[in-house]
Amino acid sequence: MSKTNLLLTPLKVGDLQLSNRVVMSPLTRARAEADHVPGKLVEKYYAQRAGAGLIISECTMTAVHGSAFVNEPGIYSQEQIAAWKKVTDAVHAKGGLIALQIWHPGRATHALLNGGVTPISSAAKAIREGQVQTPQGAFDYPVPRRLDDGELAGVVELFRAGAENARDAGFDAIEVHGAHGYLLDQFLRDSLNDRDGEYGGSIEKRARLLFEVLDAVIDVFGAGRTGLRISPLVGFNDMSDSDPRALVQYVAEQLERRGAAFLDLRHDNGADPREQELARIARRAYHGTLMLNGGFTQASGEAAIAAGEADAIIYGKPFISNPDLVERFRIGAMLAPIDFTTLYTPGAKGYIDYPALKSATARTALAV
Ligand SMILES: Cc1cc2nc3c(=O)[nH]c(=O)nc-3n(C[C@H](O)[C@H](O)[C@H](O)COP(=O)(O)O)c2cc1C
Repeated sequence: MSKTNLLLTPLKVGDLQLSNRVVMSPLTRARAEADHVPGKLVEKYYAQRAGAGLIISECTMTAVHGSAFVNEPGIYSQEQIAAWKKVTDAVHAKGGLIALQIWHPGRATHALLNGGVTPISSAAKAIREGQVQTPQGAFDYPVPRRLDDGELAGVVELFRAGAENARDAGFDAIEVHGAHGYLLDQFLRDSLNDRDGEYGGSIEKRARLLFEVLDAVIDVFGAGRTGLRISPLVGFNDMSDSDPRALVQYVAEQLERRGAAFLDLRHDNGADPREQELARIARRAYHGTLMLNGGFTQASGEAAIAAGEADAIIYGKPFISNPDLVERFRIGAMLAPIDFTTLYTPGAKGYIDYPALKSATARTALAV
């Protein structure tokens, strides 16, 4: 049994009242059906995890040609809205809260996933590491089309429409995906963004598209139900920034100005010695809810909250194999291991078949 239980205490996040501080991370699981519509499996999966203080959904397409994963869900069609409404109803029926993570992959995709449409980005530079999986196999990442400044208002409108649709689908909040080298991050970080003009150069200009999107989402949901994920230290998708401290300082100040509900600061799983410093910078400049993510255990999450480094902890992989993660934390039970072979495979296996503890099993599984 854990000595303290700060993770299990309630927390006000903007307009939301969370019953605990164990937040479920956005996790792409590629179980949507034809036309990027989430079906019964998705409904069951999220309902099983409604014990989280807040669920943040998998990244969800705002644009019909903005897909990076086969069978990922979208939020741009009436059919998708109706399907997500069943998901949010199922989570609410079990007393949970659910935010939608909205995104655009930018250059991190392929025309074969998007009806032949070339990926877009801040710069005409391809991701050099890794390959993109398409229905026709794995390929090197293509060189994206560099967006003109005049096209960026259209990007903002995609996110605005996504937020409006999410509101209609009954989501409690929105998380804007500004992390992991996807479109908004492709503007934010300077390893890629080489633009002149209003959307490149200084951090203020590189962050401009991100905050135009955030403002559009705030127009729809209100600041008290809008959050942002960034990952200044995560190199995934061939990204980096020359001054992550200044980046976090600026982003945190801007969130503070707007009264945004939460900042989801995705660490590099403890791999980077600057993580705690960035969290402190965010804390000083921003007084909304600071959520940390990346490689946390129950003990390290408790410690981060106890030290005042975070208000809530976001757990990803632990929620995949432990639908009742909060209950396991409550009783100090061992966590079930994750099956990495079924992360993105179709069907129920490895998705909705991880059992919750039965109370008898729970007692015998108590961790020492
Ligand atoms: C299968 C899988 C899918 C993921 N999908 C997303 C996603 O859709 N959006 C996102 O922001 N992060 C995504 N991530 C990253 C997680 O949200 C999280 O940041 C990462 O797993 C680190 O947290 P953890 O150590 O608690 O797992 C994904 C991670 C995994 C393992």
